[in-house]
Amino acid sequence: MLKILITGSKGQLGSHFNIIDKSSLFNFIKTHKSKAPKYEQMDITNEKQVSYVLNKYEPDIIINTAALTKVDLCQTNKLLARKINVDGLKNLIKHSNFNTKIIQISSDFIYDGIDGSYNENSQPNPLNYYGKTKLEAENILLSSNKKNIIIRVSTLFSNYLNNFYNWVYSELSKNNIIHVVNDQISNPCYALNLTNFIYDLILLDYDGKINFGSKNSISRSGFAYEIAKVNNLDDNLIKVVKTSNINFKAQRPLNTSFDLELCNQMKLRLFDSKATLEYINGVK
Ligand SMILES: NC(=O)c1ccc[n+]([C@@H]2O[C@H](COP(=O)([O-])OP(=O)(O)OC[C@H]3O[C@@H](n4cnc5c(N)ncnc54)[C@H](OP(=O)(O)O)[C@@H]3O)[C@@H](O)[C@H]2O)c1
Repeated sequence: MLKILITGSKGQLGSHFNIIDKSSLFNFIKTHKSKAPKYEQMDITNEKQVSYVLNKYEPDIIINTAALTKVDLCQTNKLLARKINVDGLKNLIKHSNFNTKIIQISSDFIYDGIDGSYNENSQPNPLNYYGKTKLEAENILLSSNKKNIIIRVSTLFSNYLNNFYNWVYSELSKNNIIHVVNDQISNPCYALNLTNFIYDLILLDYDGKINFGSKNSISRSGFAYEIAKVNNLDDNLIKVVKTSNINFKAQRPLNTSFDLELCNQMKLRLFDSKATLEYINGVK
Protein backbone atom coordinates (compact mmCIF):
# COMPACT_ATOMS: atom_id res chain seq x y z
CA MET A 1 0.00 0.00 0.00
CA LEU A 2 1.37 3.45 -0.93
CA LYS A 3 2.43 5.60 2.02
CA ILE A 4 1.36 9.20 1.59
CA LEU A 5 2.70 11.89 3.91
CA ILE A 6 0.81 15.17 3.99
CA THR A 7 2.36 18.43 5.18
CA GLY A 8 0.14 21.16 6.61
CA SER A 9 -2.56 18.58 7.41
CA LYS A 10 -4.61 21.01 9.49
CA GLY A 11 -4.82 23.63 6.73
CA GLN A 12 -7.72 24.07 4.34
CA LEU A 13 -6.51 21.62 1.70
CA GLY A 14 -4.64 19.31 4.09
CA SER A 15 -7.74 18.70 6.18
CA HIS A 16 -9.79 17.62 3.16
CA PHE A 17 -7.74 14.44 2.82
CA ASN A 18 -9.68 13.24 5.90
CA ILE A 19 -13.03 13.61 4.16
CA ILE A 20 -12.77 11.06 1.36
CA ASP A 21 -11.89 7.65 2.76
CA LYS A 22 -9.03 6.21 0.72
CA SER A 23 -7.63 4.08 3.54
CA SER A 24 -8.13 0.93 1.46
CA LEU A 25 -5.69 2.33 -1.13
CA PHE A 26 -3.25 4.44 0.83
CA ASN A 27 -1.60 4.70 4.24
CA PHE A 28 -1.71 8.30 5.39
CA ILE A 29 0.78 10.08 7.62
CA LYS A 30 -0.69 13.41 8.68
CA THR A 31 1.75 16.05 9.84
CA HIS A 32 1.30 19.42 11.48
CA LYS A 33 3.84 22.08 12.38
CA SER A 34 2.96 22.03 16.10
CA LYS A 35 2.31 19.15 18.50
CA ALA A 36 -1.27 17.85 18.12
CA PRO A 37 -3.01 14.54 18.91
CA LYS A 38 -3.17 12.16 15.89
CA TYR A 39 -0.66 14.30 13.93
CA GLU A 40 3.06 13.74 13.60
CA GLN A 41 4.83 17.00 14.39
CA MET A 42 6.71 18.30 11.37
CA ASP A 43 7.50 21.94 10.80
CA ILE A 44 8.85 21.89 7.25
CA THR A 45 11.29 24.69 8.10
CA ASN A 46 12.83 22.59 10.88
CA GLU A 47 15.39 20.41 9.13
CA LYS A 48 15.88 18.10 12.10
CA GLN A 49 12.16 17.39 12.37
CA VAL A 50 11.84 16.85 8.61
CA SER A 51 14.78 14.45 8.59
CA TYR A 52 13.43 12.53 11.61
CA VAL A 53 9.86 12.13 10.28
CA LEU A 54 10.86 11.27 6.71
CA ASN A 55 13.38 8.69 7.91
CA LYS A 56 10.83 7.19 10.27
CA TYR A 57 8.05 6.74 7.67
CA GLU A 58 9.90 6.68 4.32
CA PRO A 59 6.77 7.82 2.41
CA ASP A 60 6.29 6.91 -1.25
CA ILE A 61 4.57 10.24 -1.82
CA ILE A 62 4.70 13.61 -0.06
CA ILE A 63 1.84 16.03 -0.68
CA ASN A 64 3.17 19.46 0.26
CA THR A 65 0.19 21.63 1.13
CA ALA A 66 2.09 23.58 3.82
CA ALA A 67 2.67 27.19 2.86
CA LEU A 68 2.44 30.79 3.93
CA THR A 69 -0.65 31.61 1.90
CA LYS A 70 -1.38 35.15 3.11
CA VAL A 71 -0.32 37.11 0.04
CA ASP A 72 0.05 40.50 1.74
CA LEU A 73 1.96 39.01 4.69
CA CYS A 74 4.38 37.38 2.22
CA GLN A 75 5.01 40.86 0.79
CA THR A 76 5.75 42.42 4.19
CA ASN A 77 7.60 39.43 5.68
CA LYS A 78 9.66 38.13 2.80
CA LEU A 79 12.04 36.20 5.03
CA LEU A 80 9.21 34.16 6.52
CA ALA A 81 7.59 33.63 3.11
CA ARG A 82 10.86 32.32 1.66
CA LYS A 83 11.56 30.17 4.73
CA ILE A 84 8.23 28.34 4.47
CA ASN A 85 7.44 28.36 0.75
CA VAL A 86 10.96 27.73 -0.60
CA ASP A 87 13.28 26.44 2.13
CA GLY A 88 10.55 24.13 3.52
CA LEU A 89 10.30 22.36 0.16
CA LYS A 90 14.12 22.17 -0.06
CA ASN A 91 14.10 20.28 3.26
CA LEU A 92 11.52 17.82 1.93
CA ILE A 93 13.60 17.24 -1.20
CA LYS A 94 16.84 16.83 0.77
CA HIS A 95 15.55 14.39 3.38
CA SER A 96 13.20 12.16 1.37
CA ASN A 97 14.24 8.93 -0.30
CA PHE A 98 15.41 8.94 -3.90
CA ASN A 99 12.14 7.30 -5.02
CA THR A 100 9.77 9.53 -3.08
CA LYS A 101 7.45 11.51 -5.34
CA ILE A 102 6.73 15.08 -4.24
CA ILE A 103 3.39 16.66 -5.07
CA GLN A 104 3.73 20.42 -4.75
CA ILE A 105 0.68 22.67 -4.63
CA SER A 106 1.44 25.82 -6.57
CA SER A 107 -0.53 28.88 -7.54
CA ASP A 108 -1.99 30.93 -10.38
CA PHE A 109 -0.03 33.85 -8.85
CA ILE A 110 3.06 32.63 -10.74
CA TYR A 111 1.45 34.36 -13.78
CA ASP A 112 1.23 38.12 -14.33
CA GLY A 113 -2.49 37.99 -15.21
CA ILE A 114 -2.13 40.11 -18.35
CA ASP A 115 -3.31 37.60 -20.96
CA GLY A 116 -5.28 34.93 -19.06
CA SER A 117 -6.01 31.41 -20.35
CA TYR A 118 -2.72 30.12 -19.00
CA ASN A 119 -1.71 26.56 -19.72
CA GLU A 120 1.14 24.53 -18.25
CA ASN A 121 3.64 25.95 -20.77
CA SER A 122 2.67 29.61 -20.47
CA GLN A 123 5.46 31.92 -19.36
CA PRO A 124 5.35 32.61 -15.60
CA ASN A 125 5.99 36.18 -14.44
CA PRO A 126 4.91 36.65 -10.80
CA LEU A 127 3.96 40.18 -9.74
CA ASN A 128 4.22 39.71 -5.97
CA TYR A 129 6.51 37.99 -3.50
CA TYR A 130 4.10 35.13 -2.72
CA GLY A 131 4.01 34.28 -6.45
CA LYS A 132 7.80 34.56 -6.64
CA THR A 133 8.24 32.04 -3.79
CA LYS A 134 5.75 29.63 -5.37
CA LEU A 135 7.56 29.83 -8.73
CA GLU A 136 10.97 29.42 -7.12
CA ALA A 137 9.70 26.32 -5.29
CA GLU A 138 8.43 24.89 -8.61
CA ASN A 139 11.80 25.46 -10.26
CA ILE A 140 13.73 23.90 -7.39
CA LEU A 141 11.55 20.81 -7.51
CA LEU A 142 11.76 20.54 -11.31
CA SER A 143 15.54 20.77 -11.25
CA SER A 144 15.87 18.21 -8.45
CA ASN A 145 16.11 14.51 -9.21
CA LYS A 146 12.68 13.89 -7.65
CA LYS A 147 9.64 12.44 -9.32
CA ASN A 148 7.11 15.22 -8.98
CA ILE A 149 3.73 16.69 -9.75
CA ILE A 150 3.21 20.45 -9.63
CA ILE A 151 -0.44 21.44 -9.44
CA ARG A 152 -1.28 25.11 -9.92
CA VAL A 153 -4.59 26.17 -8.44
CA SER A 154 -6.34 29.46 -7.81
CA THR A 155 -8.81 30.81 -5.22
CA LEU A 156 -8.87 27.62 -3.17
CA PHE A 157 -12.19 27.49 -1.33
CA SER A 158 -14.34 25.30 0.89
CA ASN A 159 -16.60 25.73 3.89
CA TYR A 160 -13.60 25.22 6.17
CA LEU A 161 -11.17 27.84 7.54
CA ASN A 162 -10.46 31.27 6.03
CA ASN A 163 -11.12 31.56 2.33
CA PHE A 164 -13.10 33.68 -0.13
CA TYR A 165 -16.22 31.46 0.03
CA ASN A 166 -16.39 31.52 3.83
CA TRP A 167 -15.75 35.26 3.93
CA VAL A 168 -18.58 36.04 1.48
CA TYR A 169 -20.93 33.56 3.15
CA SER A 170 -20.33 34.77 6.70
CA GLU A 171 -20.43 38.51 5.91
CA LEU A 172 -23.64 38.24 3.85
CA SER A 173 -25.19 36.00 6.53
CA LYS A 174 -24.56 38.83 9.02
CA ASN A 175 -26.06 41.34 6.55
CA ASN A 176 -22.74 43.12 6.20
CA ILE A 177 -21.84 45.01 3.03
CA ILE A 178 -18.81 43.62 1.20
CA HIS A 179 -16.64 45.18 -1.49
CA VAL A 180 -15.57 42.67 -4.12
CA VAL A 181 -13.39 43.23 -7.17
CA ASN A 182 -14.73 42.54 -10.64
CA ASP A 183 -11.40 42.58 -12.47
CA GLN A 184 -9.66 39.59 -10.85
CA ILE A 185 -10.61 36.53 -12.85
CA SER A 186 -9.70 32.95 -12.06
CA ASN A 187 -10.94 29.35 -12.00
CA PRO A 188 -11.86 28.90 -8.31
CA CYS A 189 -10.80 25.53 -6.97
CA TYR A 190 -12.90 23.59 -4.43
CA ALA A 191 -10.58 21.86 -1.95
CA LEU A 192 -12.49 18.57 -2.08
CA ASN A 193 -12.33 18.50 -5.90
CA LEU A 194 -8.60 19.10 -5.60
CA THR A 195 -8.08 16.15 -3.24
CA ASN A 196 -9.94 13.88 -5.69
CA PHE A 197 -7.87 15.30 -8.54
CA ILE A 198 -4.66 14.54 -6.61
CA TYR A 199 -5.80 10.94 -6.00
CA ASP A 200 -6.52 10.57 -9.74
CA LEU A 201 -3.04 11.88 -10.65
CA ILE A 202 -1.42 9.51 -8.15
CA LEU A 203 -3.29 6.52 -9.57
CA LEU A 204 -2.36 7.60 -13.12
CA ASP A 205 1.29 7.97 -11.97
CA TYR A 206 1.29 11.42 -13.57
CA ASP A 207 4.55 13.39 -13.66
CA GLY A 208 4.95 17.13 -14.28
CA LYS A 209 2.99 20.37 -14.18
CA ILE A 210 -0.77 20.64 -14.42
CA ASN A 211 -3.24 23.51 -13.89
CA PHE A 212 -6.53 22.78 -12.14
CA GLY A 213 -9.68 24.63 -11.10
CA SER A 214 -13.34 25.03 -11.95
CA LYS A 215 -14.36 24.34 -15.55
CA ASN A 216 -15.32 28.02 -15.97
CA SER A 217 -13.35 31.15 -15.18
CA ILE A 218 -15.16 33.84 -13.23
CA SER A 219 -14.47 37.22 -11.60
CA ARG A 220 -14.35 37.50 -7.82
CA SER A 221 -17.58 39.54 -7.85
CA GLY A 222 -19.25 37.05 -10.19
CA PHE A 223 -18.28 34.26 -7.80
CA ALA A 224 -19.60 36.27 -4.83
CA TYR A 225 -22.95 36.65 -6.65
CA GLU A 226 -23.04 32.88 -7.25
CA ILE A 227 -22.32 32.23 -3.55
CA ALA A 228 -25.12 34.63 -2.55
CA LYS A 229 -27.61 33.10 -4.99
CA VAL A 230 -26.96 29.46 -4.10
CA ASN A 231 -27.20 30.24 -0.37
CA ASN A 232 -30.22 32.57 -0.64
CA LEU A 233 -28.26 35.51 0.69
CA ASP A 234 -28.88 39.18 -0.17
CA ASP A 235 -26.67 40.04 -3.14
CA ASN A 236 -27.52 43.75 -2.80
CA LEU A 237 -24.89 43.72 -0.06
CA ILE A 238 -22.20 43.02 -2.69
CA LYS A 239 -20.57 46.27 -3.86
CA VAL A 240 -18.45 45.84 -6.94
CA VAL A 241 -15.08 47.63 -7.05
CA LYS A 242 -11.85 47.58 -9.05
CA THR A 243 -8.62 46.10 -7.73
CA SER A 244 -7.06 49.58 -8.00
CA ASN A 245 -9.65 50.83 -5.47
CA ILE A 246 -8.25 48.50 -2.79
CA ASN A 247 -5.00 49.18 -1.05
CA PHE A 248 -3.44 45.71 -1.25
CA LYS A 249 0.14 45.52 0.05
CA ALA A 250 0.98 42.99 -2.67
CA GLN A 251 0.09 43.65 -6.30
CA ARG A 252 -2.55 41.25 -7.63
CA PRO A 253 -2.44 39.68 -11.09
CA LEU A 254 -5.81 40.37 -12.76
CA ASN A 255 -6.73 37.64 -15.24
CA THR A 256 -5.13 34.38 -14.11
CA SER A 257 -7.74 32.19 -15.77
CA PHE A 258 -6.58 28.75 -16.87
CA ASP A 259 -6.67 26.85 -20.13
CA LEU A 260 -7.60 23.40 -18.80
CA GLU A 261 -7.17 21.52 -22.07
CA LEU A 262 -4.65 19.11 -20.53
CA CYS A 263 -7.23 18.02 -17.92
CA ASN A 264 -9.75 17.53 -20.73
CA GLN A 265 -7.29 15.50 -22.79
CA MET A 266 -6.58 13.32 -19.76
CA LYS A 267 -10.33 12.97 -19.13
CA LEU A 268 -9.93 14.35 -15.61
CA ARG A 269 -13.24 15.57 -14.24
CA LEU A 270 -13.87 19.31 -14.08
CA PHE A 271 -16.85 20.94 -12.38
CA ASP A 272 -18.32 24.38 -12.90
CA SER A 273 -18.24 26.80 -9.99
CA LYS A 274 -22.02 27.05 -9.59
CA ALA A 275 -22.56 23.28 -9.52
CA THR A 276 -19.80 23.03 -6.89
CA LEU A 277 -21.47 25.69 -4.73
CA GLU A 278 -24.78 23.82 -5.01
CA TYR A 279 -23.00 20.65 -3.89
CA ILE A 280 -21.48 22.41 -0.84
CA ASN A 281 -24.87 23.90 0.01
CA GLY A 282 -26.40 20.41 -0.19
CA VAL A 283 -23.95 18.82 2.24
CA LYS A 284 -23.93 21.72 4.75
N1 LIG B 1 -5.76 29.49 -0.50
C1 LIG B 1 -5.70 29.81 -1.79
O1 LIG B 1 -6.52 30.60 -2.33
C2 LIG B 1 -4.63 29.21 -2.67
C3 LIG B 1 -4.58 29.59 -4.02
C4 LIG B 1 -3.58 29.01 -4.82
C5 LIG B 1 -2.69 28.10 -4.30
N2 LIG B 1 -2.78 27.76 -2.99
C6 LIG B 1 -1.81 26.80 -2.46
O2 LIG B 1 -2.51 25.68 -1.98
C7 LIG B 1 -1.85 25.11 -0.86
C8 LIG B 1 -2.82 24.89 0.27
O3 LIG B 1 -3.43 26.14 0.62
P1 LIG B 1 -4.50 26.24 1.82
O4 LIG B 1 -5.56 27.18 1.37
O5 LIG B 1 -4.85 24.87 2.30
O6 LIG B 1 -3.60 27.01 2.88
P2 LIG B 1 -3.77 27.05 4.47
O7 LIG B 1 -5.18 26.79 4.87
O8 LIG B 1 -3.11 28.32 4.89
O9 LIG B 1 -2.91 25.80 4.93
C9 LIG B 1 -1.52 25.82 4.95
C10 LIG B 1 -1.09 25.01 6.15
O10 LIG B 1 0.34 25.03 6.21
C11 LIG B 1 0.69 25.14 7.57
N3 LIG B 1 2.05 25.63 7.71
C12 LIG B 1 2.51 26.91 7.70
N4 LIG B 1 3.82 26.93 7.95
C13 LIG B 1 4.20 25.64 8.13
C14 LIG B 1 5.43 25.02 8.44
N5 LIG B 1 6.54 25.74 8.62
N6 LIG B 1 5.46 23.68 8.55
C15 LIG B 1 4.36 22.94 8.38
N7 LIG B 1 3.15 23.48 8.12
C16 LIG B 1 3.09 24.81 8.00
C17 LIG B 1 -0.32 26.12 8.14
O11 LIG B 1 -0.37 26.02 9.55
P3 LIG B 1 -0.80 27.33 10.39
O12 LIG B 1 -2.11 27.77 9.85
O13 LIG B 1 -0.87 26.80 11.78
O14 LIG B 1 0.28 28.34 10.15
C18 LIG B 1 -1.59 25.60 7.48
O15 LIG B 1 -2.17 24.58 8.26
C19 LIG B 1 -0.69 26.06 -0.55
O16 LIG B 1 0.48 25.55 -1.10
C20 LIG B 1 -1.05 27.34 -1.25
O17 LIG B 1 0.10 28.09 -1.63
C21 LIG B 1 -3.73 28.28 -2.17
